[in-house]
Parts: sequence; C-alpha cells; structure tokens
Amino acid sequence: MCSLVLLPAALGLAGCDGPQSALDPAGAGAERLAQLFWVMLSAAVLIWVAVIGGAIYATRLRPEGHRTHTARAVIIGGGVVFPTIVLTALLSYGLYLMPGLRAQGDGLRIEVSGEQWWWRVRYWPPGAVQPVVSANEIRLPVGEKVEFVLDSPDVIHSFWIPPLGGKLDMIPGRTNRLLLEPTRVGEFRGACAEYCGTSHALMAFAVVVMERDAFASWLAQQAATAAEPADEEARTGRDLFLQVGCGGCHTVRGTAADGTIGPDLTHVGSRRTLGAGILPNERQALIRWIAATETVKPGSRMPSFGALRDAELAAIATWLMGLE
Ligand code: CUA
Repeated sequence: MCSLVLLPAALGLAGCDGPQSALDPAGAGAERLAQLFWVMLSAAVLIWVAVIGGAIYATRLRPEGHRTHTARAVIIGGGVVFPTIVLTALLSYGLYLMPGLRAQGDGLRIEVSGEQWWWRVRYWPPGAVQPVVSANEIRLPVGEKVEFVLDSPDVIHSFWIPPLGGKLDMIPGRTNRLLLEPTRVGEFRGACAEYCGTSHALMAFAVVVMERDAFASWLAQQAATAAEPADEEARTGRDLFLQVGCGGCHTVRGTAADGTIGPDLTHVGSRRTLGAGILPNERQALIRWIAATETVKPGSRMPSFGALRDAELAAIATWLMGLE
C-alpha cells in the first residue's frame, strides 16, 4: 500500500532535477518562477485539504442539517471572501515577481532565431559592430544579465531554457525580449516549447554556462575563421564539402562556403550536439546525420547525402569534426 503511494511521488520528484528542470534553478528568473510554483503549490495543497476536510465533515461526521446562519457564514466566507483574498494575494505576488523577468540589459545581447528545426544564434558583445554567428548551442557567462532577442522567419516557436528562466514565443514579424541571468556554472538543455511542425520534438539545444574569463576566450575563438585542415583526409573533406554544394546552405568562415539557409558550421566541431540537440557530436553520428538527414530529422530542409561513398562521408566528417 505504502509503495503504491510512494512510487508515483518518487517518479514525480525524479523529474525535478537534471539539465532541463525548471525546479532545479540555475538562473535568477528560474529561481523566481520556482519560488512562485512552490508558493502556488503550497496554497493549493492547503486549500485542497481544507475543502476535502469540509466535505468529509459535512457528509460523514455530521451529515445532519446545520443552522441557517452557520451554513450562510460557510458559503459566504468560504465561497466568496476566502477565494477573493487568496486569489488577490497570489495574483499580487505573481505580478510582484514579474518586472525582474522583463527588464532590459545593457551587456551581452544574443539574437536567437527559430528555424525549421534548429536555432540560429548571434552573439553581440557590448560595442560589437558585427555578431559572432553560431547555431544550436548557447553559451553564457555566469552572473551576467544577458538579453535575448527572439524572432522567427516563418513559423512560431518557443524558446525555453527551463533551469535559467521562463519561456518566450518566437513570432514571425515580431521581436520578443527575454533577460536571463545564470547563477551557476553548468551544462543545461533548452528546447522548443511550442508545436512548430514535423520535427518540433527534435528541436533542442545545449546550454553551457561558463566562468566569465572562459566565456570571453571562447567567444573570441568562435569569432575566428575556420581552422586549416589538419591532414590530407580533412583537406579532401573540405574540397568535397565545397564540391557537392554544402556551401550553398552553410557558411564556414575562411572558405568559399557562405550559405545562410542552414547553420553556420565554422566551429561545428566545438559544439556539444548535432542536428539541434538530438545527436552527440561524434564522428559516427555526424556521418549518419549527413547520410540520412531526412530520416534522423523528418521534414528537415537539408537533403540526405546518402549517395556519397563511405570514404567521402568519412572525409567530410573528419574535416567538420576538426573545426573547433
Ligand atoms: Cu520549434 Cu517547436
């Protein structure tokens, strides 16, 4: 009996930590949201216990009639006065928490566009004249307020990093702003939280919160052009990449590839994941991604390059993995 009660509770609580939990906050906004959740939950539990207690009392313990004026006091007190006070208090508390989630920052700005089905990311450090372009991964300096500028060219997505803060829709023709302030170093996971089409469930991203110095050197390194191929196979891979037309959609800064339809791959080798959070960034996974894109991510705009020979796929993968 006891295990019947405890098992669902344990399963429920098991979802409360991990890289994508809003109840294990690692950001100022998420802390306020978690606080709001626990206050609301506590109030709901207390009220539930009181209502069920009242129902048991009235139906089991004292099922006989009550005096009119007691009954009226219970109905007006419990049905009108009490809910008005409780709902006003909870609403005021929720509104009091809100301004901090909407304020504007004057430091690092990150533009994120929701694409089908991946994330275009542009870092604008203060004073920058051009952005540092990346994709499908967001890195942040710990303890700094970062302003996110969110939009989408075609369909509605929703940008959400649960451990850092609230979610916000990315709406075509509109720009939404979100302020996030990570409070501890770590690796987290963000996801699209609005149904946006075939591969909505395959639209995630890695989030890495770093010490400020480490972040600054990482960003400087991301701003650089692509590394030269380290060996003969990588050189072959680069030439094939350009020959088969990958550069029509992808940019690799420092090469002739300057497409903007798909993710910028200049430093793809340094990312945690492939295909927008769905595969580990490993050689075999990359080969599979290139050869069977449409199977791995149905509806993807990138065609599968399964017609390439194994050695050609391997060479392209070797070159891309080396772009750190
Ligand atoms: Cu993008 Cu759901």
